[in-house]
Amino acid sequence: VKAPTMGRGKLILIEGLDRTGKTTQCNILYKKLLPNCELIKFPERSTRIGGLINQYLTDDSLQLSDQAIHLLFSANRWEMVDGMKKALLEGKNIVMDRYVYSGVAYSAAKKTDGMDLNWCLQPDIGLLKPDLTLFLSIQDVNSNAGKDGFGEERYETLKFQKQVKHTFITLLENEMKRGDESIKIVDVGNRGIHEVEALIWEIAEPVLTTHIDHDKFSFFQ
Ligand code: TYD
Repeated sequence: VKAPTMGRGKLILIEGLDRTGKTTQCNILYKKLLPNCELIKFPERSTRIGGLINQYLTDDSLQLSDQAIHLLFSANRWEMVDGMKKALLEGKNIVMDRYVYSGVAYSAAKKTDGMDLNWCLQPDIGLLKPDLTLFLSIQDVNSNAGKDGFGEERYETLKFQKQVKHTFITLLENEMKRGDESIKIVDVGNRGIHEVEALIWEIAEPVLTTHIDHDKFSFFQ
């Protein structure tokens, strides 16, 4: 007789452009799931690799090739993966603020020779795949440019954000066309925080309450 096993925790990812309310929604979902939840934000700026990434984002004088910074963002995910797996095995849920899709979309949006979507995904192959990815989308990228703090970091220019949005949508639609049902696009539009929170909960709750066997994981491939 098979002993009853506790299911593993769920990995829930919230993705989106800069200043779409992603971090606010991650915090809300995290608090709803406490005490059985961890919150992870990428880039995780507190590690040594994360410190370099932070410097690159906030200090224009730090020169790194597009390939090198791309690999650092990926390495920053790889250094967190053991801890993530451990938490999920303990039955804890994880809410993530950005992950692989940001990694691919922002780098590919630079249009650097040889860095297409496929190249950008390679170093992330083998990372844990989220059970649910919510992409917070806005119709009008111009409207988030006015938000507090916009423009302080390297990627926060309107022109680049428009390119990132285009790359994000292409990437996610490719995945959805290939039959990936874990990705959902949430149109944030002019919706208020609580309305978006309700939309997210409607999608996340069934995933959170589904049993997934202890040893069953998906990986990026
Ligand atoms: P983040 O700290 O989430 O910024 P914000 O809170 O303003 O949305 O991310 C910092 C920047 O790093 C953001 O412009 C997205 C970018 N980024 C990448 O280019 N690659 C990655 O792999 C990740 C995780 C983020």
